[in-house]
Amino acid sequence: LVQHITDSTNCQLLQRLQGRHELEPGSVIVAEAQSAGRGRRGRTWYSPFGTNLYFSCYWRLEQGIPAAMGLSLAIGLAVCRLLQQYYQLDAKVKWPNDIYVNGKKLAGVLVELSGTLDAGCDVVIGIGLNVGMPEQSKQHIEQPYTDLRTESSQQVDRNLLVVELQRQVVTVLQEFNVAGFAAFIAEFNQNDLYANQPVYLMAKPSISGICRGVDKQGGIIIETSQSTEVHYGGELSLRAG
Ligand code: ATP
Ligand code: BTN
Repeated sequence: LVQHITDSTNCQLLQRLQGRHELEPGSVIVAEAQSAGRGRRGRTWYSPFGTNLYFSCYWRLEQGIPAAMGLSLAIGLAVCRLLQQYYQLDAKVKWPNDIYVNGKKLAGVLVELSGTLDAGCDVVIGIGLNVGMPEQSKQHIEQPYTDLRTESSQQVDRNLLVVELQRQVVTVLQEFNVAGFAAFIAEFNQNDLYANQPVYLMAKPSISGICRGVDKQGGIIIETSQSTEVHYGGELSLRAG
């Protein structure tokens, strides 16, 4: 489904699920602009018209809610694979949900859950991928960002990009359904922006140490001066130390 301007492609899919519309797993909605694009914890995803990609995909997560964290990390790898394989970019994942190129954010992932607490659950996988950010974006985003047209010397055709992104996402989802996040740990750690770097986790109190990758649930492993700790949860943010 293609929409011109929408509030948020994630919202649109969630509304359809709540309205009990039948959706095929793998169904995708894309828009040209979002008036209420969202990131984690109520933050805004800046979504200007006509130059980027705002993409959401429905999936049924058979492993249930505890697997959602790992799923979100695996989807980040789907975006990384796309950027590496098709645009030869040195794309990296930043735990838990960002994709970086040349030290700047190029894409973000927002996985949202819907429905009951039964064994499986419905998920909406949102991906915002910058293709061509207008000049005025600077006024709206307080951290370094970039886009595909800046980073790649190749022509970018957004129609082909959507098709390729859907293909990469569905491939990852199928792999995830077979073996869960465990199948992605090595790949995540190989593509981790902060691998073996000093970091701090913005928690209360904040935790400083060396980033040692992720565990099988997708928790971040931090080696502090006292011990090695694993931290989970969507409320945390990681920064260079
Ligand atoms: P973390 O995920 O580590 O908590 P974050 O600051 O990136 O860090 P998110 O919720 O993942 O937080 O992303 C939302 C943030 O991304 C916004 O607060 C803004 O700084 C930035 N942002 C918003 N729109 C865009 C965009 N189109 N491209 C790049 N960055 C954006
Ligand atoms: C983040 O970095 O916080 C995640 C940003 C996710 C943005 C995408 S754009 C398509 C989908 N619809 C939304 O409202 N958010 C996601």
